[in-house]
Amino acid sequence: MQPSDKALVPFVSVDNMMRLVHHIGVEQMITQIAAQIEADFKRWESFDKTPRIPAHSPHGVIELMPTSDGEAYGFKYVNGHPKNTSEGLQTVTAFGLLADVYTGYPTLLTEMTMLTALRTAATSALVGRYLAPKNARTMAMIGNGAQSEFQCLAFKAMCGIDTVRLYDIDPNATSKCAANLQGKGLTVIPCKTPEDAIEGAQIITTCTADKKYATILTDNMVGPGVHINAIGGDCPGKTELHRDILLRSDIFVEYPEQTRIEGEIQALDADHPVTEMWQVITGAAKGRIDERQITLFDSVGFAIEDFSALRFVKQAIEGTTFFEPLDMLADPDDPRDLFGMLMRAG
Ligand SMILES: NC(=O)c1ccc[n+]([C@@H]2O[C@H](COP(=O)([O-])OP(=O)(O)OC[C@H]3O[C@@H](n4cnc5c(N)ncnc54)[C@H](O)[C@@H]3O)[C@@H](O)[C@H]2O)c1
Repeated sequence: MQPSDKALVPFVSVDNMMRLVHHIGVEQMITQIAAQIEADFKRWESFDKTPRIPAHSPHGVIELMPTSDGEAYGFKYVNGHPKNTSEGLQTVTAFGLLADVYTGYPTLLTEMTMLTALRTAATSALVGRYLAPKNARTMAMIGNGAQSEFQCLAFKAMCGIDTVRLYDIDPNATSKCAANLQGKGLTVIPCKTPEDAIEGAQIITTCTADKKYATILTDNMVGPGVHINAIGGDCPGKTELHRDILLRSDIFVEYPEQTRIEGEIQALDADHPVTEMWQVITGAAKGRIDERQITLFDSVGFAIEDFSALRFVKQAIEGTTFFEPLDMLADPDDPRDLFGMLMRAG
């Protein structure tokens, strides 16, 4: 039996997502997703917001990230398993869905492993535009895993970075990252220590994966005037920065209710002052105010960023071949005759 149009939901496979990214261009797509995120952060108050819903285990975490703007509803399923790469699996995988609030019908199902890397890089660079020093040309990239190239290209495309200094505890990860960035318009400098990597860098991105309180940066490594883009500390008991750095920094977050549970600031008092990025973006709060200030984006990843990315993909695939119609919703001729539909199929 052929499914009706109402049964079909556009599905973007990994293969189609990669075709879409190549069609648009990596940097272009990151920039366009960032514009969508910026527009959605400007209408922050129109979204339902909740800290994401985690299921922790000794092996990692599985999370659901829902939000809605009253017209569309979206969620992402995402995991974080730092031990996975040693078993040939990824630390982070994801998929997500958009739905129409009026009917409740899904309108898009898509892979989001690639899309998460793109949206995380887009968010980081968008925030960098508001917080990084204006003369920033060099970024230290600490943690050279799956997200790293996306981060480097986002800061090149959106913040004018022309040099990246790479460091990872695993030199193979650094070699992989350096090789992938060849010919992409960046000067790439592999480094042997984190101290070497941050030498002369105006932006420091930490993007490591370890299920513990790690100390990727110690206090003496961070000089005045830098912007820290801390991505890898995004779970209870999983952070990257020494507490003293936090005490010297002006801290910017996505959604405080979630970041206080998951971010670097879990090491601080529950009322430690933080600034919400949507307020910086709307002009209600200040971003960087002086050259010697240390700004810290305590990034954990918030549902609205995924919603923005999902909406971007939904628009981008319209009228293209970058999706397949998936027979996902039962559509009986008489809406109440679900059983009859099943019997007729026998
Ligand atoms: N904030 C967000 O929105 C967001 C989004 C996606 C991923 N993440 C987080 O970002 C992190 C990186 O994700 P990924 O997919 O690139 O993971 P990955 O496992 O592919 O890469 C992590 C890299 O960190 C390196 N590393 C571990 N400890 C280190 C240390 N002490 N010093 C230097 N390098 C070290 C590992 O060798 C590995 O190469 C994860 O913790 C993930 O949870 C955050």
